[in-house]
Amino acid sequence: MTAIGPGLTPAFAPERLCAASELQEKGKAVLFDVIHFREPARAFALRFEGRVVAYLNRCVHVPTELDWQPGEFLDADREFIICSIHGATYEPKSGRCVGGPCGGGRLKTIDVEERDGELWWQPSRDTRAVPRE
Ligand code: FES
Repeated sequence: MTAIGPGLTPAFAPERLCAASELQEKGKAVLFDVIHFREPARAFALRFEGRVVAYLNRCVHVPTELDWQPGEFLDADREFIICSIHGATYEPKSGRCVGGPCGGGRLKTIDVEERDGELWWQPSRDTRAVPRE
């Protein structure tokens, strides 16, 4: 996440995602709703090699959700994010396509930060929080 200096106001306030303890190493992801380019969409966060990463839940091959069960994104060896539709494979730490029909593309990254036992995600101009009612 881009650091915000003292006295500066981010364009979009960070959104609380969950307790950091909810994400186990190479475990199930936490899903969350976003507004991406004004359309409802889902995103996910998972912990991989100690680091929390988050992406839009949208395959580069065809714009569909990746998980084969809700929150299950990793392959059998828990080494890659794999699309449940045609098997495109992504490197978890970068979101970069490393195999299958994703053509060298990359998952859309969402900035996340782990702070004081909580996880926060950073909305942006393109990917915003769902308005609270
Ligand atoms: S839709 Fe993901 S690999 Fe085809």
